Amino acid sequence: MGKSTNIVWHETSVTKEDRRKQNNHHSFVIWFTGLSGSGKSTIANALAKKLFEKEIKNYVLDGDNIRHGLNRDLGFSDKDRTENIRRIGEVAKLFVDSGQVVLTAFISPFRTDRELVRNLLEKDEFIEVYVKCPLEDCEKRDPKGLYKKAREGIIPEFTGISSPYEEPIDPEITLETNKYSIDQCVEQLIDYLSSKNLI
Ligand code: PPS
Repeated sequence: MGKSTNIVWHETSVTKEDRRKQNNHHSFVIWFTGLSGSGKSTIANALAKKLFEKEIKNYVLDGDNIRHGLNRDLGFSDKDRTENIRRIGEVAKLFVDSGQVVLTAFISPFRTDRELVRNLLEKDEFIEVYVKCPLEDCEKRDPKGLYKKAREGIIPEFTGISSPYEEPIDPEITLETNKYSIDQCVEQLIDYLSSKNLI
């Protein structure tokens, strides 16, 4: 940290406002947070398709994918998760600057990390979506067989089992995936975004 000195921020010739105007929509982050298996990626991808159909430029950043590339050096210790989210926050900010809607699907278990990302952005540029699902249900779904391995002690520091998940206190929207279908959750999101004139 603090290694970059003697650097100067360059203003760009095309601004975020220029890009938004050309795209004909606002640019912002839809930050999905929730347990593994809660439905973050599925909902983010379903929403991305709807936005695409509405000609809203968007991109999904997903935990598993980013950890194959940009963040391949990071594991699941508290420190590494914090660094994971810090980097994603910075990348998300660049996407917002590029005039796009960015959908992020990371467990992002720590409140302070999510707040750090919120504070990187303007007030109307960060929508925290709590993808809420009881641990028992996520564990029943266990789409990747990870909960089983975590219970057997094969995967250490597993969120909800041996590593904490801090629920959002005041998210912009909560989706209860044990009560509503994916389509219904996407509908709730679209309604929310429309009501706030974000799309
Ligand atoms: S974090 O906590 O935000 O840094 O995690 P994230 O980058 O979203 O990565 C979560 C996905 O990694 C897989 N995985 C684990 N999750 C939690 N704890 C441990 N120890 C772990 N090891 C691997 C898992 O597939 C997560 O994907 P999702 O989509 O959440 O199920």
